[in-house]
Amino acid sequence: MSVRFSSGKEIPVEMHKTRMIQKVTLPSVDERLRAIHEAGDNTFLLKTKDIFLDMLTDSGVNAMSDNQFAGMIRADDAYAGSMTFYEFADAVRDVLGYEYVMNVHQGRAAEHLIPKVLAKSGDIVPTNYHFTTTKAHMELLGITCLEIYIDEALNTQSTHLFKGSMDPQKLRDAIKKYGRDKIPYVRMEATANLLGGQPFSMENLKQIKRICTDNRILLVIDGSLICENAYLIRQRERGYENKTVAEIVKEMCSVADLFYMSGRKNTSVRGGCIATNDAKLFETIKPWLPVYEGFPTYGGMSMREIGAMAVGMREMVDPAVAGCAVEQVKYFVSRLVEAGIPVVAPPGGLACHLDARRFLPHVAQHEYPAGALSAALYLASGIRSMERGTVSMDRDKQGKEVLADMELARIAVPRRVYTISHIEYAIDRVCWLHKHRDLVKGLKFVYEPPVLRFFFGKLEAIDSWGKDLSDTFAKELGER
Ligand code: F0G
Repeated sequence: MSVRFSSGKEIPVEMHKTRMIQKVTLPSVDERLRAIHEAGDNTFLLKTKDIFLDMLTDSGVNAMSDNQFAGMIRADDAYAGSMTFYEFADAVRDVLGYEYVMNVHQGRAAEHLIPKVLAKSGDIVPTNYHFTTTKAHMELLGITCLEIYIDEALNTQSTHLFKGSMDPQKLRDAIKKYGRDKIPYVRMEATANLLGGQPFSMENLKQIKRICTDNRILLVIDGSLICENAYLIRQRERGYENKTVAEIVKEMCSVADLFYMSGRKNTSVRGGCIATNDAKLFETIKPWLPVYEGFPTYGGMSMREIGAMAVGMREMVDPAVAGCAVEQVKYFVSRLVEAGIPVVAPPGGLACHLDARRFLPHVAQHEYPAGALSAALYLASGIRSMERGTVSMDRDKQGKEVLADMELARIAVPRRVYTISHIEYAIDRVCWLHKHRDLVKGLKFVYEPPVLRFFFGKLEAIDSWGKDLSDTFAKELGER
């Protein structure tokens, strides 16, 4: 919760207290240089023993609440018919407003099942923006993931408050061009991850729904980050300032024909789900669940995780939970903007995103500025961030490099894990790195996997720039 201090400064005060801790260590800059080199300049390949603040993602790394742990212990283990599943289904009905729900082992399992059942090769799925695994599953099935975003979406300096919205006219044009028979559904991703965690507005969601209804096309919401989107609607959209996050989430869900989420983010557990009020649609997907995931009352998750998810589903709409990352991100981004650091603004959910193209204007896009910036930030701080740029794009069918729309180094803020002094540390090290940005050069691939190359790919720093950067760091900050 953001609290105004007597000095006038607003601080995102943590609305929880720490009752169990995990020790972290800060490796020296020499250790960091060795670790990032061994990891092929890919932060995915670092080991946690070499990391001070793990800000790679907010997925599966949030702090669970005391009540979630209690839910795990109470869980009723059964292959079929567990009452814990029915507790989860009750929470889904109460919070999201859906009658029918099935669990899946995590978000990408839903991303596999939904197009597999609802679409066929040659189809087109319009979306406000792709997510890496969403697109990979569609492409493996021969389906095109068509991004229809608003003009401001890719402009990291635009002040537009809802850069995650879909352009309605472009959607109408796409339906006209491809024909509604080729479009099984439209996908709206809440708090569009790869646009820098940017929300869509409720007005936009409803406008897109009207177009879908007119054309008898289903609307699917990826609600992995639905609570942050709702929290930002409350703060930014006229008419929603007096509604609760819970009411806004329910209203968003009422607009969609089908909903899925990774539970690893908003509900802070390792799992996911698919939900709807359409019995026929549900019955079309359900028979496939045991083939890929498991019996519908566990769907590839452990009952313990479902027990924790039942509690997490109810807790996620509490403004202290829905807003904990949003408020820390806002503080983080605002401080960097004040210091003249290029970031994605306005602040969204999920993470502070450095705009690597403007941070490292001397690094060409085919030398992966976002990857270089992530590696450099690790060297300067021990903080692990994630490349969200060209390394995260796979090559096209001809083997040609596909340049990303944006080059972002994403510094994620897991929920209820880090404190304001951790964020202060991150701000300081980003500012230091910006002062020494000329020392950072590009990267080149030394090993490149055929799909989702960002996970296992190995790269190398051009001209071994890591050494210069770490030497300068040691000299200036007296640390070796
Ligand atoms: N949809 C969105 C919007 C996501 O952000 C993610 C995962 C998924 C689907 C896939 O879910 O990981 O449970 O299989 N995002 C993670 C991230 C990986 O780091 O942003 P999953």
